[in-house]
Amino acid sequence: MSPNPRSAKAAASPNIAFIKYWGNIDQAIRLPANGSISMTLGGLETQVMVTFDPSLQADELDAQSAEVGSDPLTRISQHLDIVRDLAGISSHALVETQSNFPSGAGLASSAAVFAALTIAACEAAGLELDSIELSRLARRGSGSACRSIFGGFVEAFSGEEDNDAYAEVIALADHWRLVDLIAIVSREHKQIGSTAGHALASTSPLQAARVADAPRRLDVCRQSILGRNFPPLANIIEQDSNMMHSVMLTSTPPLLYLSPPSLAVMEAASSWRTAGLRVCYTVDAGPNVHCITHADDAEEILSRLRTVPGVEEIIQAPPGAAARVL
Ligand code: DP6
Repeated sequence: MSPNPRSAKAAASPNIAFIKYWGNIDQAIRLPANGSISMTLGGLETQVMVTFDPSLQADELDAQSAEVGSDPLTRISQHLDIVRDLAGISSHALVETQSNFPSGAGLASSAAVFAALTIAACEAAGLELDSIELSRLARRGSGSACRSIFGGFVEAFSGEEDNDAYAEVIALADHWRLVDLIAIVSREHKQIGSTAGHALASTSPLQAARVADAPRRLDVCRQSILGRNFPPLANIIEQDSNMMHSVMLTSTPPLLYLSPPSLAVMEAASSWRTAGLRVCYTVDAGPNVHCITHADDAEEILSRLRTVPGVEEIIQAPPGAAARVL
């Protein structure tokens, strides 16, 4: 590596999991206990700039990067170490992050940060990796980040070792006009982040059953996406979210992310579907509720969501594009 600083910038979008990743069989390398499927969220974007600078005595983060989960410096440094090892370089780096959506509260901000960080760090280090290699590497930083490397509808494989745990595209963003209407009921940072939550998953007696049934849910979800078939997609998305929250609630200690406004939105979305609208709910490790709807029903759902007590704001996201170097 030359003695001059080397910079690169990349952008990535968060994603919403239709079939959730919850629990690792190897926490250190984030080898997920089950496969997952998500939609990349368009319009929401995180940009990460990485500058390897031989004059730095340690890795440094700007204010926004310093908000990524607990102990962000250690976590980001460990990720940079993997890139440094691969590239055979030793310089420390400055990491600068900018997002156009709030971090924390279940908007999968770590997915976008680690997808963009992986791409920017590899570019700055002069590594040429294909998208599967980037996905595998992003997973080491944040499990859900392996999906944010890609746009559209994406499946992550569980794998038995590092090599086979990465994501691939099921269908591109223009395949189906779905919209995620994210009902924000709280902007507070969650008490227990997903990394700590994953470590508790195996303490729930329900986790083994959830994991054993995952191939069925993944099949239903994948086939529903490929066939643009909303009713089975809606049912499997809600069932999968409920199964993950059942595991969370029955962990030791128990994790409760759903608040009364979350439940109000969940109940409303289900009843609107019963009344004929294409909508279903899914909730990550936070209280905000993602209402997955068809673009043709989005306006109607949006106006109904505004009337649900506790909904502070609604963020709209269609299927988004893959992560990229800027
Ligand atoms: C509930 O990928 O945020 O959003 O690997 O520790 O960064 P780390 O966890 P993270 O976990 C995501 C959990 C989830 C479900 C999902 O996105 O699949």
